[in-house]
Amino acid sequence: MKIFYKKSGLIDELNKSRESKFSIGFVPTMGALHKGHLSLLKKSLIENNTTVISIFVNPTQFNNTADLTTYPKNLNKDCELLESLSDEIIVFAPQAKEIYTDGVITNEYDFHGLDKYMEGEFRDNHFNAVATVVELLLDIVEPNSAYFGEKDYQQLKIISCIKSNVDIIGCATLRDKNGLALSSRNNTISIESRETASNIFKNLNYVKSNFNTLSVENITAKVTHNINLFEQMELEYFVIADQDKLEPITTVNVEKKYRAFIAVFVDGIRLIDNIALN
Ligand code: PAF
Repeated sequence: MKIFYKKSGLIDELNKSRESKFSIGFVPTMGALHKGHLSLLKKSLIENNTTVISIFVNPTQFNNTADLTTYPKNLNKDCELLESLSDEIIVFAPQAKEIYTDGVITNEYDFHGLDKYMEGEFRDNHFNAVATVVELLLDIVEPNSAYFGEKDYQQLKIISCIKSNVDIIGCATLRDKNGLALSSRNNTISIESRETASNIFKNLNYVKSNFNTLSVENITAKVTHNINLFEQMELEYFVIADQDKLEPITTVNVEKKYRAFIAVFVDGIRLIDNIALN
């Protein structure tokens, strides 16, 4: 498996093999890889001649230093996991100065309102930081397709509106047996808390089952109550929103598609999830 720390090396490698009908699939990550990331890579390996993964913990998208410092990092373990999947994956693991050559920057984007609620409301400037790093990475790798998980559905929608020459492909969320959405952050909470956190998905399923019969207000009240029953959990937001414009709703229009979005602190660790409702 080839690992590049410098973008010049990666670009040379990709240029060597870039030819007509040759396609590059790209999976941008912040490392601490799990089966969810592997599922994106598997899809890319099937659909492309070459698959590149970036492992870069982007400092600008964290809203507090504690979250950045505790974010799990283990490049060797990540590489072992990648080797077990395929030795053909190309790894790009740069340092910040390799990405932000002109100093750390965060560009300002117009996301046409997609960033107004949920993550955008609670994480100041987060999506500008994500879009900036994803654009820088896409400019280096120049892939045909890039793969993102639907767990970060709002991120997926936002990235889809920044680059028109790359196919942005959303992939289904992978879950533990108990339903908890796979996330690099899950390893930073105890096994017992992970069990408690499985109530996040249980509640999303409750929302899906009752979406046609209960009002949005009643559902919201029930989910808020259910989550806050657990001492280890604290609800940050629960929102039912239009799945295209990501605008929260209070009443349902049967012509439209909706998703429920949730963010919960479990033992102080922030987990997010979402589910398609109709
Ligand atoms: O989803 C992530 O892991 C990150 O937000 C991404 C897309 C790799 C950008 O740093």
